[in-house]
Parts: sequence; C-alpha cells; structure tokens
Amino acid sequence: MALGGDADRPETTAPPAGAASLAHALARYRPLFDEVVDDWDAFIDSLRRPLATCLWARPGRADGGTLQALLAEQGVPSSPVPWLADAPGTALALPPGFKAGQHWWYCAGLAHAQEAVSQLPVLLLDLAPGHRVLDLCAAPGGKTAQVALSLGNRGTVLANDFAMDRIAALQGNLDRLGVVNVTTTRWDGGNYPVGAGPFDRILVDAPCSSEGTLRRNPGLVTKLGAERSTRMAGRQRALLRKAVKLCRPGGRILYSTCTFAPEENELVVADVLAEQDGRLRLLPAHVPGLLSGPGVTRWQGRALPDVLAGCLRVWPHANDTGGFFIAVLEKDGAASCVPEAEPLHPALEPADVDWCRALGEHYGIPEPLEIQFRVHRQTRRGLHLAAPDHAPPVAPRPEGSGLFFHRTNIRPPKLTTAGALLLGRQATRQVLDLDAPDARDAYLRRQTLTPTVAQRASCRPGQVIVRHRGHPLGVAVLHRSGELESLFPRKWSGCTAAG
Ligand SMILES: C[S@@+](CC[C@H](N)C(=O)[O-])C[C@H]1O[C@@H](n2cnc3c(N)ncnc32)[C@H](O)[C@@H]1O
Repeated sequence: MALGGDADRPETTAPPAGAASLAHALARYRPLFDEVVDDWDAFIDSLRRPLATCLWARPGRADGGTLQALLAEQGVPSSPVPWLADAPGTALALPPGFKAGQHWWYCAGLAHAQEAVSQLPVLLLDLAPGHRVLDLCAAPGGKTAQVALSLGNRGTVLANDFAMDRIAALQGNLDRLGVVNVTTTRWDGGNYPVGAGPFDRILVDAPCSSEGTLRRNPGLVTKLGAERSTRMAGRQRALLRKAVKLCRPGGRILYSTCTFAPEENELVVADVLAEQDGRLRLLPAHVPGLLSGPGVTRWQGRALPDVLAGCLRVWPHANDTGGFFIAVLEKDGAASCVPEAEPLHPALEPADVDWCRALGEHYGIPEPLEIQFRVHRQTRRGLHLAAPDHAPPVAPRPEGSGLFFHRTNIRPPKLTTAGALLLGRQATRQVLDLDAPDARDAYLRRQTLTPTVAQRASCRPGQVIVRHRGHPLGVAVLHRSGELESLFPRKWSGCTAAG
C-alpha cells in the first residue's frame, strides 16, 4: 500500500556512505565550492548524518502547540522550524528516525510528515484564495496538501502525476488530511492538455536525480552522475515548457528539484527563459532566516545570464537539511493565454441527495451536506464531496475529484474513514468517544471492544463515529450486545497504528 508522505521514511536501509565514496560520487560539484558555496568538508559530512524528521500540523485540526504537546506526552522533543514560520501549518523538527505514521494523531489527520526543505516551494508560490492551481508532478502529495490548505480548502487545485500507484498514495494523503478542493489527473505533464485552461499558479516539482535526498537514501550514492542528470533534463524542460504555456499571464510558476545538478536546475530554467524571449522572468527567491545560496551562473564552460543567480539553492550543511533547488518564474502580463477551461458538471441523481440526507440525519449533522459541499457521484461505489466552488475541467479526465465519503453500494451503506475524519467534528449523534489510550489503540487495531454505558449514551445500535479526545478516528458498528466492532481500514494512508 502507498506510503503516507514521509511518515515511514527512511526509504532505504543502507548505512550512510563513507566520506570518500560521497566525495568521489559528488566530485564534479567540487568547483562550485568557494564560488557559490563554502566548506566542502562540512557538505560531505552533513550527507553522512541522519536527517531530522519534520511534521506540519494540519490547519483547522491542530495547531503547532497541540502537536508539540502530543509529542511531549510521548517524550518526543520537537521545535518549530523558524524559516518555515510562514508555511501553511506549523512545521516542527523532531529527532531523526521518528515514525509519525505509527501514532493515532497521524491516522486522524492532525499532521503530515514532510521533509523541511520540501515545504519551501509552496511558501514561495505566493498563493491567495481564489487562485486556480496546477501541481504538475504531485505525488505523493505533501505539496498538493499544502497548496490546498493554503487556499482554505476552497477553489480548484489540479494534482497530476503519471504514476498510478503514486496517485493512490496522493489520494490517501489528501483523504487523511480532509482535503476537498483537489482533482487528480494522470497524464504526462509534458503533454498536459491545454483544455485544462489557464492557471494562476503552477508547481513543477520535477522528477530528478534526487541527490539532495542522500541523507535518507544513502544507497543513491552509487547511481549519481552527469549522464543521469542529462537524461532527466529533457523531461524537466518539457514539464517546465508546458507549465509556461498553461500559466495565466501575470501568473507564477515554481520549478523545484531535490538535486544539486545544474543540468537539471539552472540549465533547464535558462533554456526555457531564453525560449520565452522576455515573456517570462525569474524572480529572485529568498526565505527569511534560511541560509541559502545563489543559483549557479557558470557550469562546465557554459556561462549563464547573471539573473540565474536569483534561483535559490539549499545546501544540506547550511541548515542541516536535505538539498533543494527552487526557481520562481513570472509570466508576462501581455503574454498569450490558453482558453478558459470548460467546467465539468458534477453528476448527482435525486436518489443521491436522499443518501446525503439520510447520512446527515443519522449523525445529526446540522447543515445539509449537499449545501456545504459539491456532492457528486463518480462511480457506482458511492459519493464524493468537494468544496462548493471546486470547478475541475472536462479535460483531462479526472482520476478522482474531492473526497470519497459515502459508500452506497453495500448494505447498509457506510460513511468512509475519510468521511468520518472530515465530518466527525460536526456530528451530534451516533458518536462514541474512546478517550482511554487502550480503547483507542484497540479500535485502531480493529479489535472488538465493549464501551461503557456512559460512552455509548448518545448512540443507538448501528454505525457510529469513533472519536478520541474530540478528534474523529473512523467508523465502527455498535451491536445490540453492546460490543463495538471496529471498521478501521486494514491499510489507511500509510498509517501503521492498526498494525
Ligand atoms: C519529486 S516527485 C514529486 C513530489 C511531490 N510534489 C510531493 O511533494 O509529494 C516527482 C513526481 O513526478 C512524477 N512524474 C515523473 N515524470 C512525470 C511526467 N512526465 N508527468 C507527470 N508526472 C511525472 C513522478 O511519478 C513523481 O511522483
């Protein structure tokens, strides 16, 4: 099953590479030291150290203080990352090796694990409510979720990736975090249909040689090299070119990679800037409090325009992070624009409205679901909901739109776990609070429990939403015998609490 963000990293179990093999594998970058960055030895040393875990608190469900207190209860120290103070959701640094996906609050969607440097692109995207956003290489979706929540979980975000299994991971993360303003698509981003219409913001978090992830993927050391980077650059250029085409005049594109290779970074950006001949400009990128380096302007005999220095490079030894590259681009207001997208009209039968009403009544949800959300049917399995103003295009055909919340093709129909996490705070009936840690863990392990009479006071036999300390965890069946049967999924968005 798909992984939930960085929840269960590290990805490889290889021991850290020796300093000599790292220095050998990365030797081609040695000339950059003293030109755009200093301290080669500190750089190599940093790549041998494990990386701090980083979590962000899901806005609207937990703030940084709540998350820190939950971690402190478990004896885990955490501290806010100062240069991510303006990112959506407070970012906390934790000791390396911490496995967030094994904790109830992670399964309940109160937090997301995402490497600190990976949180920078969305910070620099300059999002505002109402922006229509395309995330061209989106899976497993940490940045998509940041974008979606920065927009207040409203409006329209398209999250694209061409790997089906990775889209499943992305959808799992969005479901756990209660994201309702995203439609996913599966397409080669370099050929993304222009019918998708213009976007105010486009994120191109490009597939790359990933050298900047050596701290959590030490096994990569044997695979590095200029050839690999040159191979990747063709696809990266195609992705960035398509983003320029789909960007609304005056809009912004953020191109990022987690690699050091100039072939995949400044050279890609320089070529696309040159092709655009003034219709695209590079905005200098800066994050207060972050020690970053400039973009490279000379590489292996090629001189690039000075403006490329405005790219942002994060070297691992500067802030004790992974490595990262960012270029922020703005499309000229007078440049050409693709036509507006034809919107997809959601399908909803009168019977589906009856399903929604019955569900709302069962759980005592005060405001009708079909008014709070754009409820629609994508498959015969059941109903999805999305933000009321979510407006995906007809093309490309969506893989999924919004959050699958109600399974109607089984008897009795069932609120999904994602639906319970999203709606469980509003429920006034059929809610069972399991506050004891043992009971909570038994529920997450799919064990049958016997709640006290007081705990089931508001519940009739039938389906109930289970909460822990006010936070919804999922769905269960309360039997006439008084036993509670857990319906927590065997596999749930990278969580292993059900283990
Ligand atoms: C660096 S990862 C993206 C990480 C993601 N933005 C996040 O924050 O979780 C790059 C992604 O690009 C996808 N990809 C590779 N080539 C692609 C293409 N031609 N079109 C669309 N997606 C592509 C890969 O499947 C991979 O999921």
